[in-house]
Amino acid sequence: MDILGIDIGGTGIKANIVNSRTGKLKAEKFKIKTPNPATPEAIIQGLQQIIEHFKWEGKKIGIGFPAVIKNGFTATATNIDEQFINYNLKGNFEQALKCPIVAVNDADAAGIAEMSYGKGKGVKGLVIFITLGTGIGSALFFNGKLLANTELGHLKYKKSVFEKYASNSARERLKLSWSKWGKELNVYLNHLYLLLNPDLILIGGGVSKHFNQYKAYIDVPVRVETASLLNDAGIIGAAMSAALEP
Ligand code: BGC
Repeated sequence: MDILGIDIGGTGIKANIVNSRTGKLKAEKFKIKTPNPATPEAIIQGLQQIIEHFKWEGKKIGIGFPAVIKNGFTATATNIDEQFINYNLKGNFEQALKCPIVAVNDADAAGIAEMSYGKGKGVKGLVIFITLGTGIGSALFFNGKLLANTELGHLKYKKSVFEKYASNSARERLKLSWSKWGKELNVYLNHLYLLLNPDLILIGGGVSKHFNQYKAYIDVPVRVETASLLNDAGIIGAAMSAALEP
């Protein structure tokens, strides 16, 4: 089934039509900037633009969203407007956009795609998938099954949380060299390793394509690889999640 997959991030909103059975993209990707402030009204306006672009009236949409999401409600708001705390995303977005909506956490969505079509395919045991973007997102899979809504980017570190030091936006904001940032990332990955004993750590998000710049600083006693679907994983996984719901 074709589904419009939308990946809402702290910086950009990306969308494409996805064959949810094969994970194949069916059009040119369409991208807009995440509005600032990222209020529900502003995001809805952005989604209207996307719906018009793809002429997607009334059909199912899968959304990956940078927050904890339970039963269609967003529970947290780290890199988006506070109005999203305890916000009925499914109900309000469906009413405004007149399309059936399925919303899941953005990292969970990207992880689902990577486990189905990328490097996580068939991997047994515990896979930790992390996305390094505006924030740090996480998705945990045990024998391929997702444990949804983990927030491993928010583990305490220094005066704040790891997301503030090891995300890609932290690298840019703190003007860290690849070596300085790579060392922070290495502390983070070792922390995850000590807590969870994974069998594989997969790194996603735009910065994963620059892995050569920082891989020399990564030293963890477990296999660490970059995700293979890169920036499309969130879109594909959002559509796949939507296909699973009636
Ligand atoms: C949010 C997560 C999200 C991640 C990546 C974090 O700040 O709390 O829910 O998955 O950013 O966007």
